[in-house]
Amino acid sequence: MTSHREPEVVTSIVELKAAMHELRARGGRIGLVPTMGALHDGHMSLVRACRLECEVTVATIFVNPTQFGPHEDLARYPRTWDDDLVDPPAIARRLEGEFRPGHFRGVATVVLKLFHLIPAHVAYFGQKDYQQCLVVRHMVADLNVPMEIRMCPIVREADGLAMSSRNRYLTETERQQAVALSQSLFAGRDMIERGECDAGHVRDHMRTRLTQAGIDRVDYVAVAEQETLEEVERITSPAVLLIAAHVGQTRLIDNCLVG
Ligand code: PAF
Repeated sequence: MTSHREPEVVTSIVELKAAMHELRARGGRIGLVPTMGALHDGHMSLVRACRLECEVTVATIFVNPTQFGPHEDLARYPRTWDDDLVDPPAIARRLEGEFRPGHFRGVATVVLKLFHLIPAHVAYFGQKDYQQCLVVRHMVADLNVPMEIRMCPIVREADGLAMSSRNRYLTETERQQAVALSQSLFAGRDMIERGECDAGHVRDHMRTRLTQAGIDRVDYVAVAEQETLEEVERITSPAVLLIAAHVGQTRLIDNCLVG
């Protein structure tokens, strides 16, 4: 928690509530940057965006068990989570929702809890989790949560790999392979910018780029409408290209807006 002074760290909900009470009383705009830790420059770009617009930045670090899936051993976590879970909006059903059942339920639950605990004016999310941003936007609209949601651009390594806490799991060889995700997205974007309207051709080309790099476990390669995430057949309006693929044991996601 920082107001352009030394950061203050709080570790309990009681402390957090007291700190938020004091910050709200002081006035000024408060921004929230929710994270799961393992911070990298992608997270810091959200903090920088927040500091440009807000007097106070509240960053949270919480490794949220409910968005990881059953193999993450949910039994160890407090039972109240099950009662508290929030049904995510319909946009959560496709893509990540299909491959990670329960994931957005976990995200929506914890984000809504954070929004209640930290009544900021604006919250910052990274475009790398594009669908997550849309889910959160729909959730605040559906539930009338008085919070602005900002989506900040993806921060990439020099070779194009999107920054992610999970990149640290990659071996050296996998790290080299992983760059194929962004290369595939950029190749798809270039095709569309050169006038290709057939989404099937774009998807096929993107998949081929992944296969050529030795990435054969691909959850999805999608060419979708930017607001609804519905797959398109003809590209006639702004689109988003999205990939989820496994590089070794690590599942990576990336995306790119077009038009
Ligand atoms: O994007 C993340 O790091 C997490 O999904 C979030 C928003 C902090 C919720 O746990």
